Amino acid sequence: MTTTTSHSPAIAVKGLRKAYGDKTVLDGIDLAVPAGSVFALLGPNGAGKTTAVKILSTLITADAGELRVGGHDLVTDAQAVRAAIGVTGQFSAVDGLITGEENMLLMADLHLLSRSEGRRTAAELLERFDLVEAAKKPVSTYSGGMKRRLDLAMTLVGNPRIIFLDEPTTGLDPRSRHSMWGIIRELVSGGVTVFLTTQYLEEADELADRIAVLSDGRLAAEGSADELKQLIPGGHVRLRFADPAAYQSAAVALREVALPRTPGFARAGGAPVDEALSLQIPSDGSQRELRSLLDRLDSAGIEADELTVHTPDLDDVFFALTGAANVFDQPEEAVR
Ligand SMILES: Nc1ncnc2c1ncn2[C@@H]1O[C@H](COP(=O)(O)OP(=O)(O)O)[C@@H](O)[C@H]1O
Ligand SMILES: [Mg+2]
Repeated sequence: MTTTTSHSPAIAVKGLRKAYGDKTVLDGIDLAVPAGSVFALLGPNGAGKTTAVKILSTLITADAGELRVGGHDLVTDAQAVRAAIGVTGQFSAVDGLITGEENMLLMADLHLLSRSEGRRTAAELLERFDLVEAAKKPVSTYSGGMKRRLDLAMTLVGNPRIIFLDEPTTGLDPRSRHSMWGIIRELVSGGVTVFLTTQYLEEADELADRIAVLSDGRLAAEGSADELKQLIPGGHVRLRFADPAAYQSAAVALREVALPRTPGFARAGGAPVDEALSLQIPSDGSQRELRSLLDRLDSAGIEADELTVHTPDLDDVFFALTGAANVFDQPEEAVR
């Protein structure tokens, strides 16, 4: 990762605010994206991700904030910002009536490339995005994944060094999503800075050097995936039993430490019932904690059919930070 003391970050945001009427969408946001890195802005629908992208790509103006992109001030030097960036919006900007190639050539015209240069650039990008076969077909016949690839190819015509991708894989099937991830990684290895938004924790985890979680107009947390995971104590050990009787005795033996699991966990006549016959015990996964758990099981003469260690993932972080219901946040009134 880049450490930038000598050169300024590709994107620098301080005190960004935006409201629509009396609804505050972005309520004072600070962030810095080092050049050549991937930054993921993560948040549920309506969190303000598109608003942030639109502001940083000069499509709409902020109410307040010191904002610099590519070293240029967004207010006083919007033109220079536009020249440095590429934007792929959340909703496809391609024209469905014309072919993929014609869309690319239109883009080349917009960037004032010469005819021959435009043809060469279009051909190169269509090849790179695996769209050669489809190039002469109207875009309305393309799959969602192909449209997204064409969108991104069009964004790259001007060879931008900073790219905004607003939910690049929403609605794509897993295969197209993985191919889009590959394309994004390739861009980054070529030194491009990527600012992406996503609703998918997995996507942020896969791609981003740094992740910011947007919640209620503010960044609830910001850091690498590993740093975010350390914010919350979501680790646990899961014991699974094939035999309901073994499960029952384990539930009794571990009653002070086991967490109730939703939704299968309930009490029936004082006995715990869990259709999955599994127990979760909070744990950091360390050798010491595992040994103490195993000792406990041994001394009760219990053998689990399966034991798995779960380290906190971004889902846990996200739910903890955004206040959404989390299985592991239940009050610790374990089995009785
Ligand atoms: N032009 C607009 N006028 C009024 N409200 C808007 C406008 N654009 C977005 N909003 C509102 O701002 C909030 C954030 O929207 P948006 O940035 O699109 O979120 P996201 O991209 O994270 O789903 C939403 O509540 C949305 O309804
Ligand atoms: Mg959006």
